[in-house]
Amino acid sequence: MRSELALHGGEKTAHEPFPPWPLFSERTLQDIQEPLKTGRVASWAGPRCAELESRWAAWIGAPFAVSCSSCTAALHMALLALGVGAGDEVILPSHTFASTALAVLHAGAVPVFCDVASDQTIDPRAIEPLVTPRSRALIAVHLYGIVCDMERIVAVARRVGLSVIEDCAQCVGGELSGGKAGTLADAGCFSFSQGKHVSAGGEGGMVVTGSEQIARSCRTLRDYGREQEGQGRAAHVRVGFNYRLTEMQAIVATNELARLDSWNLPRRQGYARIYDHAFGQLPGVLALPLNTPARRNAYWKYPLQLDRAKLSCDVEEIRSAIVAEGVPESGIPWPESYDEPVFKERAACRCPNAEALRARTVVLPLHPTWEKSHAEVCVAAVKKVLRAYRR
Ligand SMILES: Cc1ncc(COP(=O)(O)O)c(C=O)c1O
Repeated sequence: MRSELALHGGEKTAHEPFPPWPLFSERTLQDIQEPLKTGRVASWAGPRCAELESRWAAWIGAPFAVSCSSCTAALHMALLALGVGAGDEVILPSHTFASTALAVLHAGAVPVFCDVASDQTIDPRAIEPLVTPRSRALIAVHLYGIVCDMERIVAVARRVGLSVIEDCAQCVGGELSGGKAGTLADAGCFSFSQGKHVSAGGEGGMVVTGSEQIARSCRTLRDYGREQEGQGRAAHVRVGFNYRLTEMQAIVATNELARLDSWNLPRRQGYARIYDHAFGQLPGVLALPLNTPARRNAYWKYPLQLDRAKLSCDVEEIRSAIVAEGVPESGIPWPESYDEPVFKERAACRCPNAEALRARTVVLPLHPTWEKSHAEVCVAAVKKVLRAYRR
């Protein structure tokens, strides 16, 4: 009954606000004071950025980790370290946050937008037709925490001679056949911004790689192009940036990493299981987010694909109805990159699968600060809305 929906004046499903994310631990509130008290606040003045890097490398299983100020910076550095430059083409999905393609422009290269498969990530079958003599690299984005089909992607890329970067901004702890997202290609780039799996207190990033040369390049690039990072008198050997993390940010991220496997990820995965169970057979639902024993999802958010043929309204109305029930459904928080003004003049293309996903996906939240009851409220709201709009 539509009249029962909060959108039409009915009672809301959620009576209380949801717990916020991120929410930092008491320990972090204490630890963060140390560099502020000693004055050793920059990465070169204290030990905490280096400590975060070695812990991150050990956790993910990569030989090298280079901290930086954001994932945009990480992607930019990784592209440059792989030799991408003016006039080169980089293949990447359009269905991602604009930053992925902005990093390509920062590197002086041209973004070439590729369509996604029904799992929301770059379609390995759509890559090869986009390859030209100028193609140099490919960026795979593990969107929402869904791990891309990296085996097939890397196989295509190697066949045609492309370097591969993983954009893991939304995927910390996703796995492919036991290997962690970020270690499945040439370099993996992470975001520690406000609402991500690991927040470094607002901003931050990391590049991980198995290549000493890529790691060394990134260290030089983040430190004004200095040959020997942190050495005030070291020569500036290339055009570099100031992409450094601070000691306070490193402390926050280190403490978040310490509770990632014991608290953060299991809770995300647990709430995703509640959603899977509730929505798996629900009329009006077309597909759950991909999660298999081989491709293990890290669930930044929970994208639920609706079966439009079984519903009597468009996805926008469903979203509005879910939000009116008190559930913070976020919609897809980015337009197609080729629809963004900054890329429009540079890339005239369309990605039909991405547009079809846009027209049928609602994006549900799930946070480690929640209890089971919060996921259950979201389930109740979605069920109520789909029931009301079912054909
Ligand atoms: C897929 C993706 N890539 C890159 C970024 C950029 O991350 P940052 O804000 O750390 O630069 C984001 C941020 O939301 C993202 O979602």
